[in-house]
Amino acid sequence: MRQKLLHPGYKQLSYEIREIVWFAEKVKSTGLDICWENIWDPIAKGERIPDWVKEIIAKALENDKVFGYVHSKWLLSTREYIASKNDKIGPEDIIFFNGLWEAINKIYGYLATSARVLGPNPAYSTHSSAEAANSWADHLTYTLDPNNEWNPDVEEIENKVKFNPNIAGILVINPDNPTGAVFKRDVLEKIVDIAQRYDLFLVFDEIYEKMVYDLEERVVLKDIIWDVPGISMKGMSKELPWPGGRCGWIEIYNQDKDEEFKTYMSSVLMSKMLEVCSTSLPQYVLPTIYEDERFTPYVRSRVEKYKRRADIAEEILGGLDEIIFVKPGWAFYMSFVFRMDQMNEDYRAEVSDAGLQKDLDTAIAGKRFDKRFCYSLLASTGICTVPLSWFNSTYEWIRMTLLEDDEDKYRKILETVRDEILKWKK
Ligand SMILES: Cc1ncc(COP(=O)(O)O)c(C=O)c1O
Repeated sequence: MRQKLLHPGYKQLSYEIREIVWFAEKVKSTGLDICWENIWDPIAKGERIPDWVKEIIAKALENDKVFGYVHSKWLLSTREYIASKNDKIGPEDIIFFNGLWEAINKIYGYLATSARVLGPNPAYSTHSSAEAANSWADHLTYTLDPNNEWNPDVEEIENKVKFNPNIAGILVINPDNPTGAVFKRDVLEKIVDIAQRYDLFLVFDEIYEKMVYDLEERVVLKDIIWDVPGISMKGMSKELPWPGGRCGWIEIYNQDKDEEFKTYMSSVLMSKMLEVCSTSLPQYVLPTIYEDERFTPYVRSRVEKYKRRADIAEEILGGLDEIIFVKPGWAFYMSFVFRMDQMNEDYRAEVSDAGLQKDLDTAIAGKRFDKRFCYSLLASTGICTVPLSWFNSTYEWIRMTLLEDDEDKYRKILETVRDEILKWKK
């Protein structure tokens, strides 16, 4: 090629959640059953969509218009419905996307490369990869502390903002993936205050907003934003669940308060208009599903199930000295951090299949501890988890889902994980 083709940000594009799958397939080929704990895919795990939801969708399909494009500013009736629940925005402040993934990529993709968004460490990789790729540099982060229930260090945020004039925005994922944290009002208000004092905008990814175990603890951007320009990210993937519907949206606050921010949001809208529209069907059925009297009880019953799983995880893993276990505050995941002073870095898992042993040794050679643990756990037991150092993180830690429906099986999985952790003890 007469020119270099690769964008320098390509190295930021990795997705360990799926990358581990190739190794799981190798493990499977040796006859071991795989227990998929790497990804939240409730449909694959056998979760049923209620009949009343399917009936609403089937009814919508009787009207040919749902097969068409929607208005290029997206379906007005649905935007009106969302705005009617929120006194801080109007229909013009809402943009629909093909899943929140697309919104995330557009939000960073249309920022000037020199304008940086400071995000959490550990980071949800879709955000950190997209922000880093747009800036041609590593993602800039603030620390979430597992010794302090994963709360952010607000002082660190302020210092980073103060000394780096390139920081134009702060990202908060609340409820947070991958830590499982739900942040407290006072912490969030301090972040809003920093944004106000330093003239920044806020991005709050609130896709898991309805999945908080204790609704009293839930604080959303709308309630604390004051007059700071900000974006709240929402979606249908998790709460129904309907991840395959690819329907997410953003709610934009205080566009009128800052001309630069308003133009930036218009550029995101223009980029969306070039595509004509986002997936139509979910937009058509959203108000009917959300207004149905069965919707909230249905979501809450799912959340309760996950909460029971989190209780069991705490019971089995909570007392271990070898890890820091912070009980999640919302569905669907739990994670734990290895206390590295307790771990034997030289431990080598031995598996009976010689070919698999070779593949394992190759896959983990020179890799970080959590990756070595995850791949070894997978090869020895078939339990497929995700190493989280890859989440732009300095910790050695892993994440599992709370999806398993069969409680006895779920306990067994956790007990196996606990026994494996103890094998790596110094
Ligand atoms: C924090 C967070 N934001 C956004 C997304 C993307 O959601 P969607 O399925 O709507 O693309 C996810 C998906 O797992 C997520 O965890």
